[in-house]
Amino acid sequence: MENQSNQDRIIIFDTTLRDGEQCPGATLNVDEKLLIARQLARLGVDVIEAGFAFASPGDFDAVKKIAQTVGTEDGPVICSLARAIKEDIKAAAEALKPAVKARIHTFISTSDIHLQYQLKKSRSEVLAIAEEMVAYAKSFMDDVEFSPMDAARTEPEYLYQVLERAIAAGATTINIPDTVGYTTPTEFGDLIRGIKENVPNIDSAIIAVHGHNDLGMAVACFLEAVKNGARQLECTINGIGERAGNAALEELVMALHVRRQYFNPYLGRAADSEAPLTNIDTRQIYKTSRLVSNLTGMLVQPNKAIVGANAFAHESGIHQDGVLKNKLTYEIMDATLIGLTDNQIVLGKHSGRNAFRTRLKELGFEMSETELNKAFLKFKDLADKKKEISDWDLEAIANDEMQSSEEIFRLELVQVSCGDRACPTATVTLLTPDGEELTDAAIGTGPVDAVYKAINRVVNVPNQLIEYSVQSVTAGIDAIGEVTIRLRYEDRVFSGHAANTDIIVASAQAYVNALNRLSAALHTQEKREQLTPQQA
Ligand code: KIV
Ligand code: ZN
Repeated sequence: MENQSNQDRIIIFDTTLRDGEQCPGATLNVDEKLLIARQLARLGVDVIEAGFAFASPGDFDAVKKIAQTVGTEDGPVICSLARAIKEDIKAAAEALKPAVKARIHTFISTSDIHLQYQLKKSRSEVLAIAEEMVAYAKSFMDDVEFSPMDAARTEPEYLYQVLERAIAAGATTINIPDTVGYTTPTEFGDLIRGIKENVPNIDSAIIAVHGHNDLGMAVACFLEAVKNGARQLECTINGIGERAGNAALEELVMALHVRRQYFNPYLGRAADSEAPLTNIDTRQIYKTSRLVSNLTGMLVQPNKAIVGANAFAHESGIHQDGVLKNKLTYEIMDATLIGLTDNQIVLGKHSGRNAFRTRLKELGFEMSETELNKAFLKFKDLADKKKEISDWDLEAIANDEMQSSEEIFRLELVQVSCGDRACPTATVTLLTPDGEELTDAAIGTGPVDAVYKAINRVVNVPNQLIEYSVQSVTAGIDAIGEVTIRLRYEDRVFSGHAANTDIIVASAQAYVNALNRLSAALHTQEKREQLTPQQA
């Protein structure tokens, strides 16, 4: 078999659409997943884990559509997760059929604590299942990844055995997950070295790592793993994912880029080699981060490394003085590297539909004619208020349009009256799913509260607002305001996002978007409950 350990480049495996989407409230519909998958392809990720095909018909559909549209000859490998169960693996293989390059990623727990309490199986039973299911996955395609879940807490000798058998059965990538974010960087590096030294057939597979950020060490663990032989990093945009999230793609990629001279020798390269360590087009990082944040409703903390609003801001006088004299005094990387200052003024009041469409296409937005028409109206409206329209404004308009595609309730009108002598009052009109126009009004503690109460009177689905945030897209008094909200219904969280120069309108629209997601989920649940057990 081919010796994979000579690989001198790091493979970036993005799991934003699978592990990332598993965090509460980050649920995306198929169109939104497609939009993100296209952007991930533009970013240059090597593998997109598009979902968990067996999990639900929606997941299956998303994996299949991504395989169809993004899994092209020159596109990334499209992967689906599958438990080490025949039905899961079969569903993954079926959903992946349209992809030119496809991968099944199958997993089973191997730590004693998972075996005893979760699987209720012995080590030898799990060993046999792993081997059998990898071979089964291999019967569908060549590219098979195997993960021993909770590997970081698995007894190493047993882990070596499982990995050896999985590779012998056909796994081409073996992934070492720190499922609970427990391990330290040195321990994780040692674990990878132990695997390289003790798994006899390890050179026939790529070693991948996957990890969660419960103790804030995921990225550091991965970098230590690279030094010890890991060649595939499984990560998410903005580090979103279960609990404290996954290792963040942008942090890993930029650490490997900025410190490439440090990492080069570990990959068998000359220390001063300038050749990139990953295939990522770093100038797409900021845009991808914003897209994922807008569509998932998962806000990026301002001090987040690489993509946070303050990541390149210098507040203190001493720093500003130094940067003005020579950027390198306080900056280790240029903001343009992540595409941050590509905010050109591109269009204005007199720009036509064609220029608008062309620029959106250049920015990577592929819209249907209806979406484009609606977005163009918003653009014209904005251009009337704001002289110069930048790429960021266009992205805000386009993202806003794409997100509102699943429209059940439509906001027709919102009007507020407020001020220091007035009782905040709002009137709203919504178009209901049956095409009926319903108007209601409410008072609240402030204008947004009044709007939300009025909308609730119309929609009538009990929910609790758990997060509300407003941010401006660009500087200036005429900037677009982006509102992101998250609301809870029973034990589920739904997010909504909208952009408008009027933040009350954006607030109302974001709320209606979240309620539309909630209503769509209730509708799907209702349909499922109506099915007979055989149909379900
Ligand atoms: O965290 C984990 O262990 C996972 C596996 C399915 C790879 O997500
Ligand atoms: Zn995970």
